[in-house]
Amino acid sequence: MQKTWLKIEGGSPLNGRISIAGAKNAVLPILAAGILVEQKLKLENVPQLLDTDAMVSALREVGVLVEGSGVKASGGDTLELCMVAQPRRLPSGAHSAARNIRTGVLFLGPMLARFGWAQVCLPGGCQIGARPLDLHIWGLEKLGARVLEKGDRIEAKGRLRGTDISLPFPSVGASENLIMAATLARGTTRLRGVAREPEVADLCRCLRAMGAAIEGEGSTEIIIEGKNSVGLRGATHRLMPDRIEVGSYALALAATGGSLILCDTPPREDLQAFFEQLSLCGVECIEESEKIGEGVRKNTRITRTADLRAVSISTAPHPGFATDLQAQFTAAMCFAASSQGQVVITENVFENRFRHLLELQRMGAKIDLRGRSAYLSPQGTLRGAAVRASDLRASFSLVIAGLAAQGTTTISELHHLDRGYESIEAKLSACGASIRRIEAKKTKATESINTESMAISREPQRTGNSIEKIASIAS
Ligand code: UD1
Repeated sequence: MQKTWLKIEGGSPLNGRISIAGAKNAVLPILAAGILVEQKLKLENVPQLLDTDAMVSALREVGVLVEGSGVKASGGDTLELCMVAQPRRLPSGAHSAARNIRTGVLFLGPMLARFGWAQVCLPGGCQIGARPLDLHIWGLEKLGARVLEKGDRIEAKGRLRGTDISLPFPSVGASENLIMAATLARGTTRLRGVAREPEVADLCRCLRAMGAAIEGEGSTEIIIEGKNSVGLRGATHRLMPDRIEVGSYALALAATGGSLILCDTPPREDLQAFFEQLSLCGVECIEESEKIGEGVRKNTRITRTADLRAVSISTAPHPGFATDLQAQFTAAMCFAASSQGQVVITENVFENRFRHLLELQRMGAKIDLRGRSAYLSPQGTLRGAAVRASDLRASFSLVIAGLAAQGTTTISELHHLDRGYESIEAKLSACGASIRRIEAKKTKATESINTESMAISREPQRTGNSIEKIASIAS
């Protein structure tokens, strides 16, 4: 793989407009719903991401025909999906595209519902331990499936019938898998303890357009009348905007100052807890409407109205503060003034989601980690350094740190960032940031400059306990 870095010269405020893409966390489950459709499912506003590409490759492997311009390189954002009559078995583990994406597990519910059997790859070696699938499997068994773990595969069989299921924790993925499974099960399924994330509701809206009988999306209880049919009908669905991308750019603005208009944003309620904390930090978020042709779209204007104030947060399932914005919030908080006192960041969804702390420390952040909480003493600034992305949201936290830091930051391992953010350099450059992607092979000089700077500043600068030991987590 060719080595690439992002090179950021920090210190410029952000001013301008950024278009928000379709939601990554909506497109992945909705692509899996393509397995349920008998005719054609047309998706609009598809984000062009590595994760979208990986999911499309995995779908093709099981026999879904995917056409359209949403797949990388062709430059559009529409995909059409159609499942062939019989699903194919996956190629051997090592050759299977499904191995590369955790959301391949979302094929289980729709394949079982439609064909009475399913096979998926376990994502990576040990992830069942680090990020278990027990709720997915338990729920599918309640619906009547027999589920077996066979090497690096999960296989499931059985004709599904509706039942009552209460999830002990509102897992987003398990909720989505069970909702899709129940659409073609015999009889009624009453799901309680369902995840209330807006992306789960977007999946329900898409399934309803495909003819599924679903009520209650956005609440903790969803009722699904299983259809007595071979599959669901064709439909067109426009994916909701990516609220995590909105939050990520809003936090970049919080760190750098300036004013941004984020275009095509989701309803304010989707980010209510986040916006409440952001306004405590001295950042104003105002919803505006803009006429586009015949229609009207919602934009959000983000402005830092004062020096950044230090605010503590605790993550929680929706409608709480989203875990997918915790790393970016932590990075932004490094730029509050030292007189503001300590910030406590508590992670309640993924207990180990703190890999970014070590990299922020390399840039001079004063952070201690104790259990599920990071204790940060803001100093109003960071200094540029060579840092390494460790997962999707952690990568963006380093972009924020680099944009507001003094001097040059280089970020490596960009495949994490490209999984979930579309055209990041173009969007930020257009708003005044100095950010560009550097490919190691371009010139020898470029390569040696970067290698040298990485060698100089990859010395860890610890202030707290052993953050290096913390396991990586992907979002
Ligand atoms: C989804 C999102 C991810 C987000 C997360 C929480 C997608 C593609 N990804 O991930 O960006 O950070 O929701 O909002 O939508 N758990 C179990 N057993 C299970 C399933 C989950 O114990 O069977 C635990 C997980 O280990 C984790 C917590 O539940 O601690 C939340 O996981 P879950 O809500 O399932 O997240 P994902 O669907 O994987």
